[in-house]
Amino acid sequence: MPDRGGRELRRFRDAYRDSVETMFAAVTDLYAEHWHDFFHFAVFEHEGETWDEAFARTHARYVEALRVDRATRVLEVACGRGGFAEILAVATEGDVLGVDLSRAQLAHARKRRRPNLRFLHHDVMRLDELGETFDAVACMDAACYFPDKRRATEQLAQVVAPGGRLLLIDWCRQDGLNLLQEELVLRPFMQFWAVPSLETAGNYASYLEGSGLRVLAADDLNDRVRPNWELGYERAIAAVSDLTYEEAARMLWKAKQVGAGAPRMVKEQFAAALYIKAAYDAGFLRYTAILAERPAAV
Ligand SMILES: C[S@@+](CC[C@H](N)C(=O)[O-])C[C@H]1O[C@@H](n2cnc3c(N)ncnc32)[C@H](O)[C@@H]1O
Repeated sequence: MPDRGGRELRRFRDAYRDSVETMFAAVTDLYAEHWHDFFHFAVFEHEGETWDEAFARTHARYVEALRVDRATRVLEVACGRGGFAEILAVATEGDVLGVDLSRAQLAHARKRRRPNLRFLHHDVMRLDELGETFDAVACMDAACYFPDKRRATEQLAQVVAPGGRLLLIDWCRQDGLNLLQEELVLRPFMQFWAVPSLETAGNYASYLEGSGLRVLAADDLNDRVRPNWELGYERAIAAVSDLTYEEAARMLWKAKQVGAGAPRMVKEQFAAALYIKAAYDAGFLRYTAILAERPAAV
């Protein structure tokens, strides 16, 4: 039997620039409307905590872990719609740069105006071409899209200045899954989201160590991000339950302006929400935060 799914994932890897551009142009407003302006997860600590409270505390923790208050140059890789880059810019008097491969995402990011905040259309695979290093580097919920995880991680590590920190947060594949488990549980949502491959947390950590960074912490956050999955699932159900013909026509017409394949991508987001929750419930998908530091020069 032809391996259609595998072929598609290889296309996401080989043509990642196009697939990322098209995917996010098609879905950025859909997720902003039905999910949040942040495309990453809030880490919950207390029963009854609201989503916004959890996001506020999560961001404060990340800012603290990156020591942003004493950073003079800060980079957010794959900054999306720019919400966290703006939080970084508020937390430092230094310069903050947000880079992303999606022009559609950047169009929203650029509406955030602060004197110390700028955005650039740039690919993580070519971070070395920036010709700069940074005291704090964040990369959230994006590495799953990167075509070559080891090379991307090396690029991230390369722009961390001596004494600087990197926070890499991503959806990882559980260690030790067999091919059938991957195919049945992970591949469906990867196909809907243009994700070419998933890496294990252990491999990310070893790529960082291999690039000269010291891993300070690697936290599996699955138990603490559960409400995000529940919300995503509920909102997907609510969105289709409330969907009128007029609204559907408006959404699909808008997607058609992005490209011929975009209406299909928009429709597939419903199935993606169901499959990704199944991957999380099965424990095959691990939401992991890795904090690493480049030792200060002696
Ligand atoms: C799920 S969104 C996360 C956005 C943002 N970090 C957030 O948490 O809201 C993934 C982002 O990664 C970006 N991205 C994917 N591949 C990239 C690459 N090779 N270089 C730079 N950005 C990339 C996408 O354009 C998208 O904005």
